Amino acid sequence: MSNKTKRFWFAAIIFFVMVIQLIPSEQPKVIKNNPDDFLSTGNIPKDVAKMLHESCYNCHSNETVYPWYSAIAPVSWLVNSDVKEGREKLNFSNWTQLKASKKAKSLDKIAKEIRKGEMPLFIYPIMHKNARLSQQNRKRLSSWIDNFANKLSGI
Ligand code: HEC
Repeated sequence: MSNKTKRFWFAAIIFFVMVIQLIPSEQPKVIKNNPDDFLSTGNIPKDVAKMLHESCYNCHSNETVYPWYSAIAPVSWLVNSDVKEGREKLNFSNWTQLKASKKAKSLDKIAKEIRKGEMPLFIYPIMHKNARLSQQNRKRLSSWIDNFANKLSGI
């Protein structure tokens, strides 16, 4: 490629990235104060709370912390849709509002996703190293969730 061609493509890419910023994408709102949050129920061990917070809360709570690059398209499209969909499926911030049957179902799914290694979404720990769960942490977290679910349902 000649220098002229390189300059052309560089300018074209910059222009393209600038143009896609004009495509609207709504960032789900952050709410800091969540009295119905799962972790505010008081009986959650520190290590479990820390793992859930670091590995899940950005997509599954109202307390999303958006890194600077998440405001830039096309990353913003991916992040906004993951957070929107993530919160719709499971929002730890609304925990105490759920019926007992919904809680039981949710806990079952949470433990399964963690055990199978499907959550957090594979792409997430690339930029959030603390979110990576080791095999041992997956075991600890999923069996704690199972026990917690059993206690809730009185088994
Ligand atoms: C990067 C965002 C992101 C992170 C981080 C994340 N999730 Fe998810 N999660 C999603 C999205 C998006 C969906 C819906 C699509 C799907 O099922 O793949 C989902 C779906 C789920 C579901 C399925 C809900 C249902 O009703 O089917 C569960 C359970 C879940 N996540 C648990 C977790 C847990 C537990 C963690 C932390 C260990 C976590 N997620 C981390 C984005 C995320």
